[in-house]
Amino acid sequence: MYRMSEKPLIGADEIRERVAKLAHEIAAVYDYDVLLSALTGAYMFTADLSRELAKAQGAKAQQKEIAFIKASSYGLSTESSGNLQVYGLEKINLGEKKVLLVDDIADSGRTLLGLKNLLREMGAKEVRTCVLLNKQERREVDVAADFVGFEIANEFVVGYGLDYADHYRTLSEIWTLQETD
Ligand code: IMP
Ligand code: MG
Repeated sequence: MYRMSEKPLIGADEIRERVAKLAHEIAAVYDYDVLLSALTGAYMFTADLSRELAKAQGAKAQQKEIAFIKASSYGLSTESSGNLQVYGLEKINLGEKKVLLVDDIADSGRTLLGLKNLLREMGAKEVRTCVLLNKQERREVDVAADFVGFEIANEFVVGYGLDYADHYRTLSEIWTLQETD
């Protein structure tokens, strides 16, 4: 069994401020063609980040595409199965496009690395990655996100789109999930 921490790890205001800054960091250095969001965990982050990006990009914003795929490697557990499944790619054309891949969290790094390789195979001209959260301590493969919202410790977190077995996603803050016996 699991229960939520007593206080949020990252509050809603802190998230809002960091996402706005992150959008400026991205807009300053990367003029991508398509923002590709990895559902489901990144849905709330993507909604907020994309609006902040549009503000930061000004007139260029409406030239950019937004697309969604669904990446999944978790069953009903807090450990990645390492077996990445990607849905929705068949409708997306990345040929010669610069891609900004947005995901919720880099944990083992397998999802990020797997998706980066896949997007390059699909003909993307360039792939840069943005994650809201990074758990560096858990990395199992050599991959780094280009843009990171927050570095966090080795804890399982939920809220702001992130789930445990599809629960907790609608919380406005990021919370730690603790195991009880
Ligand atoms: P990775 O492939 O091990 O890096 O895992 C990446 C995916 O696992 C993310 O896109 C999340 O969906 C999920 N994940 C990893 N850590 C957490 C966590 O602490 N809370 C919720 N989901 C997580
Ligand atoms: Mg995910």
